[in-house]
Amino acid sequence: MTLSLKKLKKSVVSELQYNFTAREKEQVFFILLEHFTALSKITYLTNSGQEISIDQNESILHGVTLLNEGIPIQHITEKAYFRDLELQVNKHVLIPRPETEELVSLVLGHISPNQRVLDLGTGSGCIGLSLKSKLPNLEVHGIDVSQDALDVAQLNAKNLGLEMNFTKLSMTENLSGLGEFQVLVSNPPYIGKHEAPKLESNVYRNEPHIALFSITEDPLYFYKALKKSALEILKPGGFIFLELHEDYANKTAELFKSEKFEDVEIFNDLQGKLRFLKAKRI
Ligand SMILES: C[S@@+](CC[C@H](N)C(=O)[O-])C[C@H]1O[C@@H](n2cnc3c(N)ncnc32)[C@H](O)[C@@H]1O
Repeated sequence: MTLSLKKLKKSVVSELQYNFTAREKEQVFFILLEHFTALSKITYLTNSGQEISIDQNESILHGVTLLNEGIPIQHITEKAYFRDLELQVNKHVLIPRPETEELVSLVLGHISPNQRVLDLGTGSGCIGLSLKSKLPNLEVHGIDVSQDALDVAQLNAKNLGLEMNFTKLSMTENLSGLGEFQVLVSNPPYIGKHEAPKLESNVYRNEPHIALFSITEDPLYFYKALKKSALEILKPGGFIFLELHEDYANKTAELFKSEKFEDVEIFNDLQGKLRFLKAKRI
């Protein structure tokens, strides 16, 4: 038995409940259609009478059930878009966020083409791979404590044909074994455990807690470790770029305002929130 695309779209749009506007429901339909059938929106627009198999129909409706349960669409398609890259994602990595795309723009504004860059807490590899894709002569390294995350980052590097070196290491360890870098960049876990009840339940239930939460009650825990790393492995004149928790942005900047750093600056994200820090190693 088969079903026309037009009928399928109607049932997807009517079944989707979860907080979607009418426009988003349409977009979701086209994403699911492409993922499960490889048919594009153009195919739909030119031939909505085209039939698809009952199996494809069931897969798409199962996707709708998962979305209604709050599963992110990126976990259904196992894909996320970051700047101009298509990345593989799964439950072991944070789904890359738009603010982090802005962090990459900030770094690109200050980096030179042949430098050594370290992405600390690389997750899907989104930051390091974006930098490498724009400046192919960079030597980019990524570390993460999660081997599952590193497997995803490695796969992304391979799929994109980009060379990036990955090592399983904690950003709280001494990283001198990696050598010196001109640029350190990190979007560390920065949500305090006490903030968990305020977090969107979909995020809490579906994204890795190791990527979201600071592991102690100290909201600056990872920033203190990153400062220590910068003192050990950032070359004089090199820069560290960090994504920040808006509530602790000023405190993080204070941490870096010491005799070892200069030009410590905080930048807003596009939503006007204090979100990024840049500091230069003296
Ligand atoms: C907020 S996510 C950022 C992921 C990715 N860089 C991004 O921007 O989407 C933080 C990442 O840090 C990793 N992580 C957590 N604790 C770590 C540690 N002690 N050392 C290194 N990486 C750590 C997590 O596994 C996760 O991939």
